[in-house]
Amino acid sequence: MPPSKVSVLGNAILFLSALTGAQESEIPTFEHHSPPAYPPPIGTGDGFPEWSEAYSKAQAVVAQMTIAEKVNLTSGVGWEGEQCVGNTGGVPRLGIRGLCLQDSPLGIRFGQYSSAFPAGVTIAATWDDDLAYARGFAMGVEHRGKGVDVQLGPVSGPLGLFPEGGRNWEGGGSDPYLSGIGLASAVRGIQDAGVIACAKHFIANEQEHYRQRGENAIAINESISSNVDDRTMHEVYAWPFADAVKAGVGSIMCSYNQAMPGDQNFYSANSYWASNLTGAVINGSVPIWRLDDMATRIMASFYKVGLDKDRVEVNLDSWSTDVYGYRHYFAQEGYGLINGNVDVRGNHATLIREIAAKGTVILKNVANALPLQKPRQIAVFGSDATDNPRGPNGCPDRACADGTVAMGWGSGTANFPYLISPLSALQNKAIADNTVIQWVVDDYATGHMKQTATQATVCLVFVKAQAGEGFVGVDGNQGDRKNLTLWSNGEEVISTVAANCNNTIVTIHSPGPVTLEEWIEHPNVTAVVYAGLPGQESGNSIVDVLYGLVEPGRLPFTIAKNAKDYGVSLMYEPDNTYAPQQDLGGLLIDHRYFDKHNIEPRFEFGFGLSYTTWKYHKIVVRKTNAGPYVPSSGRTPAAKTTKVTESAESLLFPAGFTKVRFYNYPWFNSTSDVKRDGENGPSDAYDPNGTATRPAGGAPGGNPGLYDILYEVNVTLSNTGKRNGEEVVQLYISQGESDDPVRVLRGFRRVSVNAGKSTTVTFTLTRRDISRWDTTTQNWVVSPAEKMVFVGRSSRDLPLVAKLNGGKKSIGYSKNKPGRQGHGMKTFM
Ligand SMILES: *[C@@H]1O[C@H](CO)[C@@H](O)[C@H](O)[C@H]1NC(C)=O
Ligand SMILES: *[C@@H]1O[C@H](CO)[C@@H](O)[C@H](O)[C@H]1NC(C)=O
Ligand SMILES: *[C@@H]1O[C@H](CO)[C@@H](O)[C@H](O)[C@H]1NC(C)=O
Ligand SMILES: *[C@@H]1O[C@H](CO)[C@@H](O)[C@H](O)[C@H]1NC(C)=O
Ligand SMILES: *[C@@H]1O[C@H](CO)[C@@H](O)[C@H](O)[C@H]1NC(C)=O
Ligand SMILES: *[C@@H]1O[C@H](CO)[C@@H](O)[C@H](O)[C@H]1NC(C)=O
Ligand SMILES: *[C@@H]1O[C@H](CO)[C@@H](O)[C@H](O)[C@H]1NC(C)=O
Ligand SMILES: *[C@@H]1O[C@H](CO)[C@@H](O)[C@H](O)[C@H]1NC(C)=O
Ligand SMILES: *[C@@H]1O[C@H](CO)[C@@H](O)[C@H](O)[C@H]1NC(C)=O
Ligand SMILES: *[C@@H]1O[C@H](CO)[C@@H](O)[C@H](O)[C@H]1NC(C)=O
Repeated sequence: MPPSKVSVLGNAILFLSALTGAQESEIPTFEHHSPPAYPPPIGTGDGFPEWSEAYSKAQAVVAQMTIAEKVNLTSGVGWEGEQCVGNTGGVPRLGIRGLCLQDSPLGIRFGQYSSAFPAGVTIAATWDDDLAYARGFAMGVEHRGKGVDVQLGPVSGPLGLFPEGGRNWEGGGSDPYLSGIGLASAVRGIQDAGVIACAKHFIANEQEHYRQRGENAIAINESISSNVDDRTMHEVYAWPFADAVKAGVGSIMCSYNQAMPGDQNFYSANSYWASNLTGAVINGSVPIWRLDDMATRIMASFYKVGLDKDRVEVNLDSWSTDVYGYRHYFAQEGYGLINGNVDVRGNHATLIREIAAKGTVILKNVANALPLQKPRQIAVFGSDATDNPRGPNGCPDRACADGTVAMGWGSGTANFPYLISPLSALQNKAIADNTVIQWVVDDYATGHMKQTATQATVCLVFVKAQAGEGFVGVDGNQGDRKNLTLWSNGEEVISTVAANCNNTIVTIHSPGPVTLEEWIEHPNVTAVVYAGLPGQESGNSIVDVLYGLVEPGRLPFTIAKNAKDYGVSLMYEPDNTYAPQQDLGGLLIDHRYFDKHNIEPRFEFGFGLSYTTWKYHKIVVRKTNAGPYVPSSGRTPAAKTTKVTESAESLLFPAGFTKVRFYNYPWFNSTSDVKRDGENGPSDAYDPNGTATRPAGGAPGGNPGLYDILYEVNVTLSNTGKRNGEEVVQLYISQGESDDPVRVLRGFRRVSVNAGKSTTVTFTLTRRDISRWDTTTQNWVVSPAEKMVFVGRSSRDLPLVAKLNGGKKSIGYSKNKPGRQGHGMKTFM
């Protein structure tokens, strides 16, 4: 029987113990554990056209490598050992320098002359996969121009189960389907630009508290365990990663408890990899084919994105802004040119502005408050409208909420090349329109606010919240937000202005939902705009939306009336101090929870107002002639069981080699360190005969049959207003069984339609889209229950409904006894 619960921490411990020989008996056992599964299949391009050429080249080059060279490729050199945030060893003999892995998902962390793109949450709010691709491509171009080989993004973990989750904003919205499309588009964009993308953080990485040892005031021995049932793992958390793999992603970062660059701890100058991996191969506890596979997979991704052609030398430095300095920063060695300061921004500002505007969501708009039309006098309120007095990069890792908030904090950041504040863009617009503009940007100067508000024709209030990575705390928010209310006196700023100005328009910059109940229904609050985390063009993009120059976006999460309505609790206090156990619950993330429990949100997932009006009419469903679903079978290639033949001497530091201090090398100091006694030892854990292909597997992204198109759905949409506009047409389906979510998102399209015109929008539904994960057969199945398709403008405004063909009434899939689940009742379509 498959395990009913999968513990991510359990996997991590077991994997490390396999590598290091740690004693498992020291580790207390917890309720949820998954057994280790050996071996990982051998990576191969056979049968996968998109990978075959890359694998052929990789196999050819790895065949020429020594053990130490292969180990080098897999091993981080140590924190601050080279110029990027992560650096592996290279193979100088074959002219291959080590890989440069650089943060972040929204631009180049520590970059100079590079762009600060809108955050994941804002690109998600555009619901536009062409823009998601364009953003990925532009970021890829910038990384490539700096010599980066692996961009450490995009993000789909956290997925956003907890609205307070500190890093949700790096990801693509609190829905697996939406997030998966965004992840795949970004992967294609980044990799088409010649850089390996890194889908992260795999998996179930939903909160910052206790993600790492030693970061919270309360000592814990091990990182938090995210406990997820098998069905939820497949249908929710792994779903977007399957999209990324299908899109050809070249790397995945596992979540992410300790030690990214390869050292055991920052500055520890030792490693589980490097010479320890050499040692484990020599003594047989890691078979040599496993090492070959590690190196081959790395080189396959290298060739797939074209890093063998015109590879750019690393010309950025993460640890110093000086032009000349130490290439090995921690060792203070290797003085030379470290920052080439190549300007890689191109014309990306235009794209950044477009994304930020199209990802801004209008939540309320009464009395024709928006769009603004040359108002006579504008008054602007709130520190979120203005500059951080210390400058756009004045807070290290952007860990503050001073001035306007345009990205979250932590490693998922980039340096701003400039930051247009809302106030400066509004002033430019006001001057052009002959509008008078005044402001009060001290959040506590309520007396001045009153005075200023009474004079204005329109009052623009800017409020904010902020969140980030757990290694820095801001105002008591240790990464994760401690509440869902506004920061910097936001509620009082709004109420003060609204009491004195009958046309108060509120703009919110925040990493996710904030509660609006205190003031949303105030009669003088005529418009509310959620502007996400827009990046460097913040002010210009908000002007574009407020003045109606660009059509806005839609919410990529639910805004609840009360924080408790989400039905989940981030763990702020550990349930135990060995390894906190966080149960991530089931399938009902975000809007699915509200739908199942009939909770009325303030603004539902997918909601957002348009500047024009839309009519949905006519839905047509056509079943295609897809063939049957064939479970995958067979075995992955057998491992080549080669013996270690290299002499002890060949594994030593070469004579005369000058070591960089604190650096992790693949070599030993002396032949007495080369221990072969474990040879043919504990390798029984591995099956050299290849891995049985899982029925649901067999190709990148899963069984190819999952992507067969089973239905085509056409809807007609008319722009019934007087303006040209853009609508986000959303398709949801109900799968019909009582243990299914009420509806799941399975399609969306952002379309542009001129005033008075109509268009047909075509969606396709794949087998995967209508399947559920069957824990007994470990495969996807289409349940027999009647399935409905819904199309409309949000998760709760779905005017078009149709049956998918062939459905029967639900016969209670979930009521079967465990172990006999679905027996005799499911169809493998
Ligand atoms: C490992 O990588 C380091 C850094 O690139 C390099 O100095 C060393 O020569 C490499 N070792 C081998 C075996 O290629
Ligand atoms: C947990 O950490 C504490 C404090 O460092 C230590 O005393 C204890 O032995 C650890 N427990 C385990 C099981 O490692
Ligand atoms: C090898 O791993 C062990 C156990 O974690 C560690 O103590 C040692 O420092 C590592 N050696 C090197 C050279 O990194
Ligand atoms: C093999 O070498 C590794 C790395 O030095 C070590 O952790 C492990 O205990 C060794 N295993 C055996 C069976 O000698
Ligand atoms: C919520 O957190 C913010 C930021 O730390 C703080 O300014 C605000 O006062 C908190 N709200 C409440 C109701 O405590
Ligand atoms: C709305 O604003 C006007 C000033 O324009 C003010 O007189 C009135 O009291 C405000 N209404 C509320 C409910 O605060
Ligand atoms: C606000 O009050 C002014 C002056 O009384 C009036 O002209 C205007 O229409 C009001 N605006 C709104 C949005 O109610
Ligand atoms: C859906 O629309 C497309 C494009 O207009 C058309 O080719 C297709 O035949 C339509 N399908 C159905 C089922 O109406
Ligand atoms: C080699 O010797 C240095 C200095 O004693 C030590 O720090 C390092 O861990 C040794 N490396 C290995 C692989 O044993
Ligand atoms: C691998 O296959 C060979 C030949 O069929 C068989 O003798 C051997 O037992 C298999 N090894 C394992 C670990 O299953």
